[in-house]
Amino acid sequence: MAKKKTLKIAFIGGGGIAGHHAGLFSKYDDVEIIGMSDVAPASRKHWAEAYDIPTYSDYRKMLRELKPPLVDVCTPNFLHYKPAMDAMQAGSHVFVEKPMAMNARECKAMVARSKKLRRKLVVGFQHRFEARVQFLKEAIAAGRFGKIMFTRVSYYRRRGIPNWGVFGRKELQGGGGLIDVGVHALEQAWYAIGRPKPVAVSGNAWTFIGDDPKKARDIKCMWPGWDTKTYNVDDLAVGQIRFADNSILALEVSFAMHNQEEGFNYKIHGEKAGATLDPIKIYTDDYGHMVDVTPAYLPEIDIWDVKMRGVIDHVLNGGPNLAPAEDGLMVQQMLDGIYQSAKVGKEVRVS
Ligand SMILES: NC(=O)c1ccc[n+]([C@@H]2O[C@H](COP(=O)([O-])OP(=O)(O)OC[C@H]3O[C@@H](n4cnc5c(N)ncnc54)[C@H](O)[C@@H]3O)[C@@H](O)[C@H]2O)c1
Repeated sequence: MAKKKTLKIAFIGGGGIAGHHAGLFSKYDDVEIIGMSDVAPASRKHWAEAYDIPTYSDYRKMLRELKPPLVDVCTPNFLHYKPAMDAMQAGSHVFVEKPMAMNARECKAMVARSKKLRRKLVVGFQHRFEARVQFLKEAIAAGRFGKIMFTRVSYYRRRGIPNWGVFGRKELQGGGGLIDVGVHALEQAWYAIGRPKPVAVSGNAWTFIGDDPKKARDIKCMWPGWDTKTYNVDDLAVGQIRFADNSILALEVSFAMHNQEEGFNYKIHGEKAGATLDPIKIYTDDYGHMVDVTPAYLPEIDIWDVKMRGVIDHVLNGGPNLAPAEDGLMVQQMLDGIYQSAKVGKEVRVS
């Protein structure tokens, strides 16, 4: 009997999300985790014991010794670009967690290298696989909405500044709520409306809670006591993105602000129909009436299973890339545009 094809995977970064990935990969019989690298000794010890694999403090040594067919990059944002570039150079395909990198310049170089060296490059977006998102995407692609004019996307946390990791440090993360969680809301809404090309962005970003020691100490919240001394990222960021077809997407994201709503949502306004993600509904006209269309059934989709299985099937079996690097780049161009516009105080072009 022919031996089953397996995909050998090595990790760079062995923290929270890597542990989650590894647990999911371990469920598939066509995957083998062959190594990991982390600068933290405790993390290496844990992985060596849990998976009985060699661990490395220097990922370049791991790339040289193991020559992994797929490298899963799960380091903080400032360490997506270099490990991904080095892994592609060393001959590996790459799966990189979101956001794809610190900025669009890095993403462009990653896309270029993947094309030049014919390496597969997948970004760790998963919310696009949700049943509600697929429902809206299919209805929009089928022309149910006519021309999309305006989309309003939000991801609000009232007081949700992570009190672990490096999420409050711009130099290590590239930004705050916008790049960390706004990326999720933006990528799935943009995917649902058909991935239009961004051409110009205007926006602003503010820090007014995260750097206040009294708020971190005295206001009760789920993650109190974050490091206010090093906090230099956006609590609230807003932006307006103009696409090549002249439609507009407005984005509002907060790690912290004084607001009633929590979580993410979006509204889509087309010439023939509109929609909300939550509640999942299409608003349109039919039979001489204004009608609301609610799907009677949406399948239970395990978005993490689709994400991980998608990577394996793309790399091992030549299946489609469900979250291509080109998407990561365009999403990052929009995020960059908001940060850049906030800095210069005017609209910026996307190039
Ligand atoms: N898709 C999602 O829903 C999702 C969820 C959580 C995190 N993420 C992304 O995953 C990435 C990691 O986040 P996390 O929550 O796992 O962070 P984390 O802090 O738990 O883990 C990061 C790990 O990288 C290690 N590391 C740092 N420098 C290194 C180096 N030079 N070489 C090797 N390892 C190094 C750290 O020691 C740590 O163990 C971030 O980019 C984050 O945005 C995505």
